Amino acid sequence: MRQFLTVDDIGDIENALNEARILKRNPHGFSYLGKYKTMILLFFNSSLRTRLSTQKAARNLGMEVIVLDVNKDGWKLESEFGVIMDGDKPEHLREAIPVIGSYCDIIGVRSFASLNDKKADYNEDIIMQYIEFASVPIVSLESATRHPLQAFADLYTIEEYKTKKRPKVVLTWAPHPRALPQAVANSFVEWMKKGDVDLVVTHPEGYELEEGLMEGVELEYNQQKAFEGADFIYAKNWSSYSDYGKILTKDRSWMVDEPKMELTNDAMFMHCLPVRRNMVVSDGVIDSSRSIVIPQATNRVVSAQVVIKRMLEKL
Ligand code: CP
Repeated sequence: MRQFLTVDDIGDIENALNEARILKRNPHGFSYLGKYKTMILLFFNSSLRTRLSTQKAARNLGMEVIVLDVNKDGWKLESEFGVIMDGDKPEHLREAIPVIGSYCDIIGVRSFASLNDKKADYNEDIIMQYIEFASVPIVSLESATRHPLQAFADLYTIEEYKTKKRPKVVLTWAPHPRALPQAVANSFVEWMKKGDVDLVVTHPEGYELEEGLMEGVELEYNQQKAFEGADFIYAKNWSSYSDYGKILTKDRSWMVDEPKMELTNDAMFMHCLPVRRNMVVSDGVIDSSRSIVIPQATNRVVSAQVVIKRMLEKL
């Protein structure tokens, strides 16, 4: 595997889930693969889970890990081509990427959506430059429009907790004070479509995800109706795709609370974290015995470890 950006890069989903099960049972069983190998993790914005779980995964595989907060620890990087670099960015990605690649065997990158240039975001302009200019494999630690390590962990968690072969999984939009990318929701839909689940997406009008992505997925604008009989509720906020990057509503009635969870089939509650309590989900729901947000976050190690292991095997 030379790149990991979307579900298509993982290949057969059952094989990937089986590999995750093996690694979860025996996290250090392949530590010989990463001996004398280095992974560099680049962050263009904040992270708790991705930063720690990816380091843990790489170390479980015997690798050295270097973490760089690009905007704090390095030179600010210019990503536009043909510009006169007379502003606050003294180094161009065109030099920085091959230099970083020369110090390591795998690069992980977290970039972020601009939320004002839909074309650049959905073309994945930033992470594609890493793929073009680095001579080593690239792992997305969340790009402008996808968060594949999160969605892989989400699918794995559903597999661990499901009590029927094909559970009903509901992705629900929830209110948030800030405009957030569609990346988590996009990847969640993409990975659930490959999984053995019945997916329903619910959100207020105006928050429709990319049409192609939603092909074959049930969309229900009535949140309460969507919740009926659900086995898993996955809450997430995202900004508008059509009115790109805009917050169209902060309607608090979309928060996931106890009366809504009563409509479900005693559903498990999931969220990728960080989560704003009593905005996205009530304390009562996230603190209940049906909340699996911590095991979900724990599984970020195993999803990263499958991906890094496959890259190491191909070096
Ligand atoms: N879920 C997730 O990616 O968390 P962080 O932003 O803390 O890495």
